[in-house]
Amino acid sequence: MKFIRSFLLWINFLFKSVFFLRYIPDSFLYSLRRDRAESNFRDRAKSGSLISPGRLLEAVATEQGGQFRFEQAELEIDFLLADLVRINWRPGLPPIPYALVEQEWEPVETTLKQTSEGWTIASEAMQMTVSPEGGLTVVDAAGKMLRKERSPQRQGERWIHQADLMPDEQIYGLGERASSLNLRTVQDATRSVKTYRMWNYDPGGRYPPGTDPMYICIPVYLGFHQAGSYLVFYENSFRAEFTFAERATADFEGGSLRYYLTTGEPAHLLERYTQLTGRPPMPARWALGYHQSRWGYRTEAAIRQEVEEFQAHDLPLSAIHFDIDCQADHRPFTLDPQRFPQVSRFTQELIKQGVRCIAINNPGIKYSRQSNLFLEGCVLEAFCTYPDGALVVAPVWAGRMVFPDFTNPKVRDWWSRQYAYLLDVGITGFWHDMNEPAAFVLWGDHTLPSVAQHCLEGRRGDHREAHNVYGFLEARAGYESLRRYRPNQRPFIVSRSGWAGLQRYAWTWTGDTICTWAAMRQTIATVIGLGLSGIPFTGPDIGGFQGNPSPELYLRWFQMATFLMFYRTHSSTSVQPRTPWAYGEPYLSIIRSYLQLRYQLMPYLYTLAWEASQKGYPPVRSLFWLDWGDRTLRDIDDAFCLGDALLVCPVLGEGHRNRSVTLPDGEWYNFWNDHRISGGRTIEVDAPLEQMPVLVKAGSVLPMEDLEQQQLTLHLYPSSSGEGQGYLYSDAGDGEGEFRIDRFSFSRRDQILELYWDKEGDYAFAYASVQLQVHGLSVQQAWVDGAQGIPGQGMQITCGIFERICLECAE
Ligand code: NOJ
Repeated sequence: MKFIRSFLLWINFLFKSVFFLRYIPDSFLYSLRRDRAESNFRDRAKSGSLISPGRLLEAVATEQGGQFRFEQAELEIDFLLADLVRINWRPGLPPIPYALVEQEWEPVETTLKQTSEGWTIASEAMQMTVSPEGGLTVVDAAGKMLRKERSPQRQGERWIHQADLMPDEQIYGLGERASSLNLRTVQDATRSVKTYRMWNYDPGGRYPPGTDPMYICIPVYLGFHQAGSYLVFYENSFRAEFTFAERATADFEGGSLRYYLTTGEPAHLLERYTQLTGRPPMPARWALGYHQSRWGYRTEAAIRQEVEEFQAHDLPLSAIHFDIDCQADHRPFTLDPQRFPQVSRFTQELIKQGVRCIAINNPGIKYSRQSNLFLEGCVLEAFCTYPDGALVVAPVWAGRMVFPDFTNPKVRDWWSRQYAYLLDVGITGFWHDMNEPAAFVLWGDHTLPSVAQHCLEGRRGDHREAHNVYGFLEARAGYESLRRYRPNQRPFIVSRSGWAGLQRYAWTWTGDTICTWAAMRQTIATVIGLGLSGIPFTGPDIGGFQGNPSPELYLRWFQMATFLMFYRTHSSTSVQPRTPWAYGEPYLSIIRSYLQLRYQLMPYLYTLAWEASQKGYPPVRSLFWLDWGDRTLRDIDDAFCLGDALLVCPVLGEGHRNRSVTLPDGEWYNFWNDHRISGGRTIEVDAPLEQMPVLVKAGSVLPMEDLEQQQLTLHLYPSSSGEGQGYLYSDAGDGEGEFRIDRFSFSRRDQILELYWDKEGDYAFAYASVQLQVHGLSVQQAWVDGAQGIPGQGMQITCGIFERICLECAE
């Protein structure tokens, strides 16, 4: 059996390899054509000598801050809020404000003064000093130095910006990175400084840890040091390079030096950054369930069989993804009518079983007069061209493709109309792939020529500026389409590429990682880093995209992903089918128990999704989020927190049956056995195959549900100090209707635990019964809203809705 499977896979691989060979001639021709077009423009950006601002000539107070005129540059500092500043150096090409949400900023009171160091401009929260040469320092209200910037330099269209880093400073962010969580290079003689590139990139079907750049580059970073922390966001989509050694250097090929700076603790930084670039809309509840995917499903029958297997194995499933093999000739907005003969009926059948269908879409359009989209796009002048007006034609899956210019509002509108037909046949969500945009090449950059022409909202420009926003703007068009055609459903789009603000339109996944333990571990830092860059809904292909994970690697990866927001198995076409039952027992039973746990945790996950939509906090966070003053937590990238209550410690090696865990301060409970552990130290925890270590912070209320029983269980984890809290957001799970927020707080005096329940909002309470589960204590008796006492049942007590409940407990 095993032999036959391997043989079939080998045949499949051979077939696919031959299939890939057909792209070689076009890739060769495209690579040549691209190089020819680019050679005329190569060094334009970096021509001339480096120019500094020169001496400061004049400083003037403005309504929002100040303006500073230098011999060779101008600087404008605008306080948008007391702790959020926009800094703008001129000259330079002003950015198109794609990243920002439209808003009016109220005037902020600031003062401008001349001092011995230069000019200081201050709000109640921070003070900036502009030196006579254009250097800038930022201090907080307590006078602590947060950041020291050197005067910027420009060369042709290029801008170089540097800031001195404090010796203990750590750096996080930059979007999606396959690097350590802390991006700072610790410099010693043996290590060269790591360069992070800002150029969305398809690493080509398989990437190991360390690959740079990746699909989503965002010029935002957070700096933490002993005096405080800040966030910097450069509103510049041009290709750039960042390094963090003795100094932080940002080197942009063009555009202007416009950036935003805010200060405070991590949560506050994210709140401000997402106030600027937008917060994710509340996702539909089903989207937080489990998704199954495979590049290789070809027919309705194959997908139906997969869904039936889920049912037969008693495994919950919320969505199934249709990859390019489901399309007609790999073309966007299609499903092959022969292989999907009754697609409307099929999607309805799946929806009845609670399974949504998600269809892939690539941006390229077949360069063929047989393609209506091509003809329409030509009439609209919708495609990217070379400077001489010829269409850029490059090979992707469907052969020779042309590329819609999403920087043109007309094109976005046209594109957004194309989703209607797949929506009409029951597709619920879309998966935007290859949208860096990726092109097949034999050498050089895997994308469009840097000289490709773009509309850029009418002001025109080239691909150097448009490249990083390409996938982001495709997501915008898709999101607007789903809002338009399905106003009562929350859009679901998952996009491989993106830029600052992508969170407003799409989720993302971490792309084509390889199947190794190191790659699984890498996922943790990548997901946390994306969250710190404003993108909260993401996750990896469980098991890795390229290769065949061992049963144990798949299981451990599955366990980890149970606590990540996007929960999907996906794999490449040339690997063994990967499903929860593919590896037999005991893996299947263990995976089933994690899937069930995921659905039990839904109220908690959904509440975290709501928090992300309100404040921009990433549900998956670094341990330092809990105690940002504790330096030992800042380099941890083998564990993460899900919200403030759960500390998740994935098992990261074959045969590992325990692991060490660094606990933030406070008290913790082992999720599996309720052992109480004091934090602020590193401990060893057991990790048998069926248990990935998870710890719960004492003082939490963890809401979990049993949907079949329509029961909400509130898990109370008392701390010895006695106080605790938690809350629960609920609504209909989709659409724009009513919502409610249930807030729980408890306090403990000796053996008496009192729990209060405050309700807000008009959505009807969704559960038939409520159960309390007190961890670490046994409940002797309970008094609900002052009524007669009811006896406890060990750790549990079943009760209805209450306002105040009093529990008498014993250790
Ligand atoms: C590349 C994507 O990253 C992968 O997830 C997908 O399966 C393939 N393209 C085929 O569509």
